[in-house]
Amino acid sequence: MKKALLIALSLGVTATAATATYAAVDPEKDRQELVNFFMKKNPNIKFEDYHMGAYNYSADKMAQYESVEEFPPYLDAIDAGEALYEKDKAVYDKCFGSDVSKVRVKYPYYEESKHRVQTLESAINECRTAAGLKPFKWKKGPIAQLSAYYAYNARGQKINVKINSEGARKAYEAGRKMYMTPMGQLNLSCAKCHTYNAGRRARANILSPNLGHTTGFPVFRAKWQALGTLHRRFTGCQKNMRLKPFKAQSPEYRNLEFFEAYISNGLPIDGPAYRE
Ligand code: HEC
Repeated sequence: MKKALLIALSLGVTATAATATYAAVDPEKDRQELVNFFMKKNPNIKFEDYHMGAYNYSADKMAQYESVEEFPPYLDAIDAGEALYEKDKAVYDKCFGSDVSKVRVKYPYYEESKHRVQTLESAINECRTAAGLKPFKWKKGPIAQLSAYYAYNARGQKINVKINSEGARKAYEAGRKMYMTPMGQLNLSCAKCHTYNAGRRARANILSPNLGHTTGFPVFRAKWQALGTLHRRFTGCQKNMRLKPFKAQSPEYRNLEFFEAYISNGLPIDGPAYRE
């Protein structure tokens, strides 16, 4: 009897899970559910503070962060980004407009004509290629510096990713699926660490919540002693999951970025942020 009930229950769960998988995801409802999840889980953290990532969970680490911010290690990288911008100003202004404070907030977006997500970094390289300039290497160096320069000039503006079409919704759903699905030798999902276990320790680190994940990128990491893009970070996490990472700016990572950014709507851009 007891066994039969257990089987019935587990069948019930499976059936519900299957329905949930096949029902179309409503991004705005999904986002609000995630925000509510974190508000309930961490009642002491204010919504607008979620751009601070893992620092929200430890007063000690927050104090370290604040002392680093007194003399931020990323200032040279912003200067380098500005120099890159000035060097090919005509090219970039033609692609992005000449007001450098209005660029970062437009990305990522779903480009209808090409049926794919456009990120700030992919747009920078497309812009360079169209003007006959060599594209930058992805993940670090000049691409991160120029992206940081645009981010720095947009600090304080709110992330505002739009989903107005079925194509955009599908890109969100693909990114969400990647975030939720267990993968790799350890059978881990991003959600396992950054949603369900956010705030807990993983070795010397505290796990950040995915709410706010994109606000500080590109980040300056002490471990890298340099800037890195969001896709560089995705690569690192996927390696830790014992998984062959996707390529930076691959369709998979673009969709993942689109999902992570949409989830963070309403939070302030504060790139380039400092991270351990
Ligand atoms: C085993 C746990 C684990 C898994 C699984 C994992 N990460 Fe991470 N991730 C970390 C740790 C630890 C850090 C560094 C501390 C922090 O900021 O969370 C980190 C950092 C990050 C950051 C930087 C956050 C910031 O504020 O700078 C992003 C973005 C990120 N991970 C995304 C992902 C994505 C997307 C996936 C799935 C492809 C993923 N992670 C899977 C452990 C994990």
